[in-house]
Amino acid sequence: MADSHCCAVSWRTGAIVARHDCGANAGHTDPVHTSSASLFFGWGCHGDHNYYRDVNRLLHAVQKNATKGDPRSVVKAIDNFCRQKEWAMNVGDEKGCILDSVVSEVNPVTVLELGTYCGYSTVRIASLLPPRAKIITLEFNPDYAKIARQVIAWAGLEDKIQVVEGPSGEWIPKMKEQFGVKTFDLVFLDHWKDRYLPDTKLLEDCGLLRKGTILLADNVICPGTPDYLEYVRNSPRYKSQYFKSHLEYTKAEDGLEKSVFLG
Ligand SMILES: C[S@@+](CC[C@H](N)C(=O)[O-])C[C@H]1O[C@@H](n2cnc3c(N)ncnc32)[C@H](O)[C@@H]1O
Repeated sequence: MADSHCCAVSWRTGAIVARHDCGANAGHTDPVHTSSASLFFGWGCHGDHNYYRDVNRLLHAVQKNATKGDPRSVVKAIDNFCRQKEWAMNVGDEKGCILDSVVSEVNPVTVLELGTYCGYSTVRIASLLPPRAKIITLEFNPDYAKIARQVIAWAGLEDKIQVVEGPSGEWIPKMKEQFGVKTFDLVFLDHWKDRYLPDTKLLEDCGLLRKGTILLADNVICPGTPDYLEYVRNSPRYKSQYFKSHLEYTKAEDGLEKSVFLG
């Protein structure tokens, strides 16, 4: 590890702690209220040691610094806030460029996002969609869904985005009936990492993938999704490719896995 001041992040709370586990203070943890891109981030789940991330601060940064109705200025305001003030678990600017290029290449009409958080990636995706296209984004934390709706409204993209509250495992089987979706052209997986594989199999079982559907999965290295990677890389039903990058707002390796469903 390159730095003696390491951090651990829990995505169950969205919180971040400094972990002095590389030097004299080994094992000691304390809260970090600001983070910097120069810190090296390691992953772990420190549950109760973490402080609750007040996502209102991210919303205020958008309202203060982004232009209403301009999605790219919303994205920029969030990236600046996360690089300069507080780390947050958005896909981020670097991997966001890969996400943008996949969205542009696929040019999808139906998109499913698993894991909305504050709506950062939702805004990125929706701003690139062709007319008539829609994205359904699932978020089970009502506080995050509430912030996401406001971020999306600030970006002026309410018409393209449906924020659905609740767990993916419950919503996926109801997609056809509730939203009239036949199949998705693109699925962005960015919720809790242990749900990637069961939800992919659920999407298959529910007939929501068609030949050519693209699955794009974030954080396949950090914190990592080994069971999902093993599945999409070895199943004859997928053709899979890794895009190397870095964990949002840090220098730690992470990447996106793009998998084409072959039917
Ligand atoms: C990494 S964040 C999403 C970041 C977002 N895609 C972005 O880049 O801006 C993961 C989010 O998924 C939500 N989540 C985790 N598991 C979920 C599930 N099974 N169903 C719905 N939401 C879930 C969490 O509450 C959290 O807000």
